[in-house]
Amino acid sequence: MAKSLKPVSEPSNAVIEPAKGKLGVMIPGMGAVATTFVAGVEAIRKGLAAPIGSLTQMGTIRLGKRTDGRTPKVNEFVPLATLNDLVFTGWDIYEDNMYEAATNAGVLDRYLLEKIKPFLSKIKPRKAVFDHNYVKRIEGPNVKKGKNKMDLAEQLRQDIRDFKKSSGASRLVTIWCASTETFIKPTAAHQSVKAFEKAMLKSDPKIAPSMMYAYASLMEGVPFANGAPNLTVDIPAMRELSRQNEAPICGKDFKTGQTLMKTVLAPAFKARLLGMAGWYSTNILGNRDGEVLDDPGSFKTKEESKLGVLEHILQPSIYPELYGNIFHKVRINYYPPRGDNKEGWDNIDIFGWLGYPMQIKVDFLCRDSILAAPLVLDLVLFLDLAKRTSELRGIGIQEWLSFYFKSPMTAPGLYPEHDLFIQLMKLKNTLRHLKGEELITHLGLEYYD
Ligand SMILES: NC(=O)c1ccc[n+]([C@@H]2O[C@H](COP(=O)([O-])OP(=O)(O)OC[C@H]3O[C@@H](n4cnc5c(N)ncnc54)[C@H](O)[C@@H]3O)[C@@H](O)[C@H]2O)c1
Repeated sequence: MAKSLKPVSEPSNAVIEPAKGKLGVMIPGMGAVATTFVAGVEAIRKGLAAPIGSLTQMGTIRLGKRTDGRTPKVNEFVPLATLNDLVFTGWDIYEDNMYEAATNAGVLDRYLLEKIKPFLSKIKPRKAVFDHNYVKRIEGPNVKKGKNKMDLAEQLRQDIRDFKKSSGASRLVTIWCASTETFIKPTAAHQSVKAFEKAMLKSDPKIAPSMMYAYASLMEGVPFANGAPNLTVDIPAMRELSRQNEAPICGKDFKTGQTLMKTVLAPAFKARLLGMAGWYSTNILGNRDGEVLDDPGSFKTKEESKLGVLEHILQPSIYPELYGNIFHKVRINYYPPRGDNKEGWDNIDIFGWLGYPMQIKVDFLCRDSILAAPLVLDLVLFLDLAKRTSELRGIGIQEWLSFYFKSPMTAPGLYPEHDLFIQLMKLKNTLRHLKGEELITHLGLEYYD
């Protein structure tokens, strides 16, 4: 738990450094999400498309009273890197450059990709740190070799330094967009930086590849976001390193399709005190992510991340008659014909006045990477803001970015906030706080004085 809880009304004395120079974006995993993000940024820079779905590009923030009429755009209110400032690199176990990888992912149409082919073709994957035991369904040639896990992490650190130099970036951010790793629980090796380093030297099997990327980034003082449900930075060793090196962290698992819907609908039922008997969620998905999640170990990691949501929103211990006996089931079925165009079905059994049952069916025909790409952009820009902000850079977990995650990281002892609108309020109030603006409580009694 956080030790010193300052009253929220206390004004911030945060100093935010300006976003000068280029921002280097480093992406482990150059698959569907990463390529849709990078190709999208380039298409937007060329005026070929709009940054739909991105809070940093299209969102606004109300300041002061409703009668004040002050609603700047988010990126005019806080100093963020612009899209033109972004430069990219990535790692992958396959040798495809970003154009080839984007073509294989099949998310964006060929017409658009052809227009940005020269740019995408130049981004070639660095050799990955990979362990087949962590992702069972894939195998590739573009993989580093080293005498132990510490040696591999050192090679990643060298990649980071090389990229910084060659790209001329003044700042860097890492965002994990690689496959979901198999389910593991924290062990003694994860409890402190010292234990973690010792374990890497011994190539402890409980040190996952994603942790080595995170370690390398944090050691270089680079913020790290975790887009997958892997444990990665959600361990004491990484929290310690993040604070020590003033490299902010956040995660985990992008909140895109079905869980986005869940964290919108469940708060509505709770707000109206409608009971729930069950929530059955199933998906068909045919991209490589779907193939990886077909493995029981990787699915277990995803399942844990998806299941936690209802428990925290509905609080069955406080509302036992309404939510004490929910049957919650989540399935993901690999079905190649659909590619990246996932279909997610939800059947929700609720009950109302006097216990009368009702049903709701949701059928979301979504596009996974189209939903994820703007989140990657916002996370990169906000993590860079955190790194430049005196009040945020040394606190480790950036809980104000919970808005973007299925399974938000929090300080130990805190339950995560899953309700999408509470998360949005938290994010915007954090920005208001940093800029010395009044927090918006929605009390509104002053209008009736
Ligand atoms: N698209 C969404 O809506 C969404 C939502 C939440 C989470 N995610 C997560 O984001 C991640 C990326 O999704 P995607 O659809 O792009 O998957 P993808 O399979 O298209 O891409 C993942 C890439 O990571 C590479 N990879 C695997 N292990 C690696 C390693 N150790 N180092 C470097 N590269 C490695 C793979 O070769 C692959 O190219 C997945 O973990 C997925 O679960 C996606």
